[in-house]
Amino acid sequence: MRTLVERLVLILGFTVSGVAGADGSRGAELFEAQCISCHGNAAVDLKTPVLHGQEPAYIARSLEAFQLGGRIDQIMSSMNEIASGLSNEDISALAEYLASQDPCAIDLQIDYGRDGFQEEFAAGREKYAQSNCGHCHDSFHHYAPRIVGQKAAYLELALSQFKSGVRLAPMMPQLLASWTEQDFKNVVTYLSGMRLMRACGDHY
Ligand code: HEC
Ligand code: HEC
Repeated sequence: MRTLVERLVLILGFTVSGVAGADGSRGAELFEAQCISCHGNAAVDLKTPVLHGQEPAYIARSLEAFQLGGRIDQIMSSMNEIASGLSNEDISALAEYLASQDPCAIDLQIDYGRDGFQEEFAAGREKYAQSNCGHCHDSFHHYAPRIVGQKAAYLELALSQFKSGVRLAPMMPQLLASWTEQDFKNVVTYLSGMRLMRACGDHY
């Protein structure tokens, strides 16, 4: 049995969160007003990245790159405009809020049982290790973002942008130059399938 005070706290907490964003912070408010349609659960089928749980410094750097035009939103042409409307304080608030969010709250559906999943996953893990991708991506080295558990459609998009050179990052085009279509598919299946490792309650 909860005490009366505990119940009141729950009810009040619930009411406040309904009005001022999930945790009442400026970052939550901004996210819900300007970002959730493309980066929340309504957007799981879009080729947009999951930002929940991302490194805050990477979120801030990406937004600055969109503001300055060093990075162009290739699919919706809207990130550049949206980022331009944010102040430095907005960016910090958003980065802090998003980094603190649980990536499992984004309801990605992965068909672990489909034909070929296990083979692609195993081959992708090997390719990722051989290519030394984790050197940067598993430790936020050189501001390399978290990609484990990222959405498959977005990983595909980002990798194709690096390969074609429309998006720039240190070493990426060289690393991907010799990859076959199958290599891309395998690594995407591996990284997106690693949602398992984020203990989202998914299972084979
Ligand atoms: C109309 C849809 C749309 C809205 C609204 C939107 N975004 Fe995006 N966002 C995108 C797309 C599409 C990309 C990927 C662009 C690309 O790489 O070509 C992206 C990429 C990003 C990235 C880069 C992440 C990464 O992994 O590289 C960040 C950070 C980001 N958005 C933050 C935000 C924030 C913060 C807001 C709200 C202030 C927002 N976005 C609103 C569509 C949107
Ligand atoms: C030298 C460090 C380094 C290595 C090695 C590296 N990356 Fe990256 N990668 C980066 C950086 C830095 C970015 C962010 C670029 C930016 O800010 O736009 C990035 C971005 C990405 C993204 C886009 C993620 C997003 O959220 O937009 C993907 C996907 C990716 N890398 C995959 C790989 C794969 C697969 C490998 C192995 C072949 C690899 N990377 C090796 C540094 C590295």
